[in-house]
This record gives sequence, structure tokens and C-alpha cells, in this order.
Amino acid sequence: MKKLRSQNWFGKTGKDGFIYRAWMKNQGYPHDEFEGKSVIGICNTWSELTPCNGHLRDLAEFVKRGVWEAGGFPLEFPVMSLGETLMKPTTMLYRNLASMDAEESIRGNPLDGVVLLGGCDKTTPSILMGACSVDLPSIFLSGGPMLNGRHRGKTIGTTDVWKFSEAHRKGELSADEFVAAEANMCRSDGHCAVMGTASTMACMVESLGLTLPQNAAIPASDSRRKVLAHLSGRRIVEMVKEDLKLSKILTREAFENAIMINAAVGGSTNFVVHLLAIAGRIGVPLELEDFDKFSEKIPLLVNLLPSGTFMMEDFYYAGGLPQVIKELSPFLNNNAITVNGHSIEKNASTAECFDRNVIATIEKPFKVESGIAVVKGNLCPHGAIIKPSAATASLMQHKGKAVVFENIEDYKARIDVPDLEVDEQSILVLKNVGPKGYPGMPEVGNMGLPKKLLAKGVTDMVRISDGRMSGTAFGTVILHVSPEAAAGGPFGLVESGDLIELDVPKRTITLHVSEKELENRRQSWKAPELGYDRGYVQMYIQHVEQAHQGVDLDFLKGHSGSEVTRDSH
Ligand code: FES
Repeated sequence: MKKLRSQNWFGKTGKDGFIYRAWMKNQGYPHDEFEGKSVIGICNTWSELTPCNGHLRDLAEFVKRGVWEAGGFPLEFPVMSLGETLMKPTTMLYRNLASMDAEESIRGNPLDGVVLLGGCDKTTPSILMGACSVDLPSIFLSGGPMLNGRHRGKTIGTTDVWKFSEAHRKGELSADEFVAAEANMCRSDGHCAVMGTASTMACMVESLGLTLPQNAAIPASDSRRKVLAHLSGRRIVEMVKEDLKLSKILTREAFENAIMINAAVGGSTNFVVHLLAIAGRIGVPLELEDFDKFSEKIPLLVNLLPSGTFMMEDFYYAGGLPQVIKELSPFLNNNAITVNGHSIEKNASTAECFDRNVIATIEKPFKVESGIAVVKGNLCPHGAIIKPSAATASLMQHKGKAVVFENIEDYKARIDVPDLEVDEQSILVLKNVGPKGYPGMPEVGNMGLPKKLLAKGVTDMVRISDGRMSGTAFGTVILHVSPEAAAGGPFGLVESGDLIELDVPKRTITLHVSEKELENRRQSWKAPELGYDRGYVQMYIQHVEQAHQGVDLDFLKGHSGSEVTRDSH
């Protein structure tokens, strides 16, 4: 076995070794812990401000059990945690900052391997991006989903927030019942229990081969989540011995598998920007078109909200992600290796399906439409995306007049104004909610419909923006328009009344305005003034890349490895 990285700290003699060990000993570690044991960092996104990760301190104790048992030395450390529901203006603004925290915390410390603990939407991609830029042996452990919510005898989940809110706006749901539903929905530890972004991320890390089997769906409150933590702790010690680094697992084949599996589970559109960013860190070429190309033949197998009816708890009882992987074996790169040293195919070989209502077969899928469709045209030369399984089939080919909102404040001020010129054929356009324009690309793309159309019974309209949408949302929503309006893209030139044509089967989106007219408009176009003149946000605006590139900061792409070349002691 090669020399442990941690011995560059704890194996030193003289003054340096004294300093590295002595201060650690104040925590009660005997001297032999420092003599050649692999040091395992537990990178923890626990925070009381990230309620979905609120149990991760407890879960870390089970990881430690496994590490101790396997002869390793576990050391838990906190990193920036991003709580989706509380953090303003949007956690996406800070995903890259949190990744920097994870990267530098891992590299700068005496660690040989890392267990990454995340759960809420951005905590998974952020720490994985950071870990990729260091490339030590690493294993991911998700916090697990919440138990199904129960309200008035019915199962409810995060997707119902939108339904409750629309019903409340329409006066169909009283204020008291609206409040009562809150406690009934979030009744246990864990992240959102639908196939929103958190569940999508948990599936993503398992699909990439970065977790032990069944990581994605075991509920947070299920004792088997603790067993998984224990086993992950055991396994990372072995991975250090095998030098099984992230770059050995995160191959191009693994990314293709993740895209196909995401299509089969009906994962969130946010998957796109996170997977692109992770690929950018580890150095695997991946493009927006790959999401369409590799999901094209994959039907939707998993019947989970928001595309279906069930939730993650049901998914686990039905067989979990290994069963989906088994179903997809004719399509997948079956030899892709995973953290336990086995191929993705071998890990899934013992999977069984216990409920075909939840996990369907390739022959008889839940829905034929799945995955992410990438549309392009003069409105978005670098592409935009739509999740067909969450959209209305009749709107997938649609022509309508644009009703343009210049920013989210403009939308909020005018959407319910009685004389707004809008009908069900109109296309709602929201500008300046992209990476630079907001800044931080918030989840506002699934803008609510005008009250007057809701009252007429309209349930969906084509909506287009350079922002994102929540993984729990649904509708015929075109997202991630690139280049965004604030970056000078043609999207910024759209005006109310312009004719827009969407054709998802043909993968096109066309702004029916002449190039000459667009050029005239370009002459008078001005970038929005955002008023950030200091700190992280200013740096973010200067360096953030566009949606089709993963919204990472340009200088964070790639990896610097794990070597620390200078030593201040
Ligand atoms: Fe944290 Fe949904 S808010 S997972």
C-alpha cells in the first residue's frame, strides 16, 4: 500500500509532528491512532438551517462506527450547508461557494479518504464538485428521504405545495387547512420525498457508482439508513487501501449511465446543471445534447411525483434504484465500476421488484416520454431544456404570442392585473432570472398562471425563462435558456406580442421576429444593473458560466489534486 497522505502530517517527527498530533490529542485520541491508520474525513453538511440535513450529525456517528471497525480513524468536519427552503435569494447562488469550502477543507487537511454527507438539493452537488477537484477516494452517503406525508387520510409530498397554493389562491382551501398541511407534510427526518431535486441527486450519486446500493431511497428514519452509513464507513477504509479515487469511478460511461437512469426515474431538470458541473470538475467531456441523446430511448419506469403518484418511501419498498438499474441493463454501460469495487450490473443483479405500480418494466413502461429534451433555435442558440414527463402533451407543439416580464418583480407586479393581455394561447416569458441576471438562477421558471386564467380552468401554459424550476414542479416549462438575457443573448430581445413557436418533437424553439428587427432591438439593449459591487456575489457574476456549461465558476473547472505543496510549520 502506498504511503498514507495523512502521514505527511501525523507521521512526522520533531516539532511539526508534535504540533500536528498534540492539538488533536485534546480530543482524547490515544497516540496509536496517529500511527499509520487511514484518516477518513466525514464531510458533513449538517445544519439546523438545512432541515433536510438536520439528522446528519447523528448519521455521522454510524459512519464512524464503520470506520473504527475497519481500522480507520474518522474525523468529522462541517462545510457550508445550503438549506433550500430558507436561504435567500437562492441556494444556487452559493452552490459553487460551498464547493470551494469542501474542496479546500478536504485538500488542506490530513485526510486519506472522505465520506460525503448531503441531502438537500444543493448540498449533494456542491460537496461532490469540491471532492472531485481533490480526487481522493470518496464515498457518498445521502441523508435519505422523509417518510410520506399524510394529510386528511391522503398521502402528500412536496409537489402538493404548488397544488395547495393554487387551491388557496382560488379560494378552494381555507387558511387553517393550508397551515395544517405544513406539519402533516414534513413529519420525519430527511429530504423531500418526491422525485424532486434532492431525490434526483441521491439517485444521481448512486447511478454514478459513488454510493453503496440502495443509497437513493432508504428513508432517513429507517434503521437501514444507519446500516448503510455503517457500511459506508467500513468501505471507505478499504477504498483508501485500493486507492479507488473518484476519477476511477467517474468515467464518461458513468455519466452516460447517470443520464439514462435519471430519465427512467423522472429526475429533476436541475440534474442537468449539476451533472455538467461535476463532469467539468473531474474532467469528463459532457454536453447539453448528451442529456437528450442518452435519455432518448429510455422510457419513464418510476411512477413518482411529480411525474406520477408515489413517493421515495414507496420506491424503496418496491425495490429501489437497483431494480431500475437492472431493468435498464440493455442500455447501460454495465461494466462501470462503483465504490464497492463491483460493476453497476453486479450490484443490481440481486434486485427484485415488489410493486410494478411503482417500478415498471421496459416492455410496459409507466410513460413513454421521459428524460430531458433539449430545444434550440434563434431564441436560445446554446439550448434550453424541458422535462416532457412533467409537461402537457398538447402543448409540446405550440405557437403563441409572448407576454414578457422583464424580471421576477415585474412578473409579481403584473401577473394578476385584470387587464393583462393574456389568454391560454399566450406564452409567458420571464427574463433576467439566469445565472448572472438574478444572480444565481433561482427556481422561478414554473411561474404561476394568471389568476383570471386559473379562474377559467386553465391548468397549464407554455412558460419560458432563463431560470430553473423546482424539481417538485410541473408544467410545460422551458428552462435554462442559454445564453441568458443578462448575458446579451437574443432571449433578452423578446418583446410582448412576438410570436414564439415551440416544437419539442423537432427540438426547436423559434422566435418569429426578423434578424433585422432583432438587430435594431440589440442596439438599444442594456444589461440590467444589479448593484453588487463587493464580495462573493460580485465575483460570482463576473465568473459564472452559462446554463449549458453547468453554471460553475470558470476558474473552478478542473481539479488541482490532493497535493499540498507548501507547509507553514
Ligand atoms: Fe431540502 Fe427539498 S427542501 S430537499
